[in-house]
Amino acid sequence: MTSKACQDFEDVIERVQGCALCPEMVGCTRVLSWANGSPDAKIMFIGEAPGRLGADRTAIPFHGDVSGDNFEKLIQLAGLSRREVFVTNAVLCNPRDDKGNNAPPSRKVVKNCAKNLKIQIDAVQPKVVVTLGASALGATKFLEDHNFTLSENVRTANDWLGRTLVPLYHPGARAMIHRNFAAQTADYYFVGEILRRADNSEKKNRDFSKPSSSSWEVVRYIIQRYESLSLFKLHKTMYLLDFYSLKEFGKRFSNFVYIRQKDGPYCVELGSRWFKAFGNEIQTFSLEGKLHIRWVSLGLFQEKPLLDEEQKRFVDAVLDRIGIVADSGLKSRVYLTEPMKASLLAERAGVRQLNRPLL
Ligand code: URA
Repeated sequence: MTSKACQDFEDVIERVQGCALCPEMVGCTRVLSWANGSPDAKIMFIGEAPGRLGADRTAIPFHGDVSGDNFEKLIQLAGLSRREVFVTNAVLCNPRDDKGNNAPPSRKVVKNCAKNLKIQIDAVQPKVVVTLGASALGATKFLEDHNFTLSENVRTANDWLGRTLVPLYHPGARAMIHRNFAAQTADYYFVGEILRRADNSEKKNRDFSKPSSSSWEVVRYIIQRYESLSLFKLHKTMYLLDFYSLKEFGKRFSNFVYIRQKDGPYCVELGSRWFKAFGNEIQTFSLEGKLHIRWVSLGLFQEKPLLDEEQKRFVDAVLDRIGIVADSGLKSRVYLTEPMKASLLAERAGVRQLNRPLL
C-alpha cells in the first residue's frame, strides 16, 4: 500500500471519529479503524450497524457476537480471510432503544452516515461491494440511486457506482429465518467467485494454499482410488457420499455444500480452480470436451490421503455401490435420490430450483 493510501485512510478515520452529524450518537464508539480491514481490499462488506455485544464492544465490525460468528464462518467457507476484506457498516455507531438494546438505525441516521460510507468507498476503492441486509442496501442508494431490492436481487452482480454491487441477506440469527445458513453459504461462494473474476488479472499468479478440512482428504482419496475421473463424476460422487451417510447415520460425511444446477447436484467447493491447491498431485485434462482430473503419483514424499480406516471403509463401500458406471448412469443414480426427486417435482410445479441448496 502506498503511504498516500495509508494517509488517506488515516484521514477518513479521523473525520469519522470527529463526526457530529447525529446528536443522539454523541459519545458513541465509531467502529472504524484499521481493524475494519486493509484499505487495499478489493472487496467491501457493509453491514447494518455495530451490535451491542459485538462490534460496539470489540471495535471490530462483525466480531464477537452471533452475527460476527456467522459472518466469519461464511467468508471462510468462500475462501476469503479477514485480511483480504474490508468490513464496515451503513451506520458506524451502535443505535439503541430506550432500554439499551440494539435498535434498527433510523433513515435519518443512515442518511447522515452515508457521508461516512462515501469517504470509506473513496479511500478503499473496492471492486466489489457486498451489502448485508436491507439497511445496508438502502444506504447505498444515498451514494448512487438504484432500484435493487433484497428479494429480487439477492446473490446477483449489479453495476453500481463504477463497481459491482452484490446484495446479500444479513448473517444475523433473525435473517437466517428468511435465508438459512446453507443458502447463505452458496451466496458467499458466489461472492468469492465474483471477486476472483473481478480480480483475475492481478491474481493470475496467486498462490493457492492447500485446503485443510478433512473433506479435502476425502476428495484426494476418491481421486486416488479412481486414478482418473471426470469433474462431473467427482461432484456426483461427493454428493452420493453425503447422501448415503445422511441416510445411514443421520449425518453428512463432509462439510461441503451442494446446490442444484442444470445437471443435478453441484458441490460448491469443487466449483472453481480448487485443484491448483494440490500442486503436481492432480492434473487436469480435457476428454470428449469434459474436464477430467488425474491423480499423479509423486513417490516417497507424497502424503497419503489422511482418512482413518473407518472413513476409508465407508468411502470404499460407496464407491463399490456406485460401481463402474458412465457419467450418464451416475446422473440417473443421483436423480433417483430423494432430495433430487423433490427438487424435480418442485421444478415441475414451477418453483425455481437453480442454485437451491440440496441435502
Ligand atoms: N455487527 C456488525 O458489525 N454489523 C451488523 O450489522 C451486525 C453485527
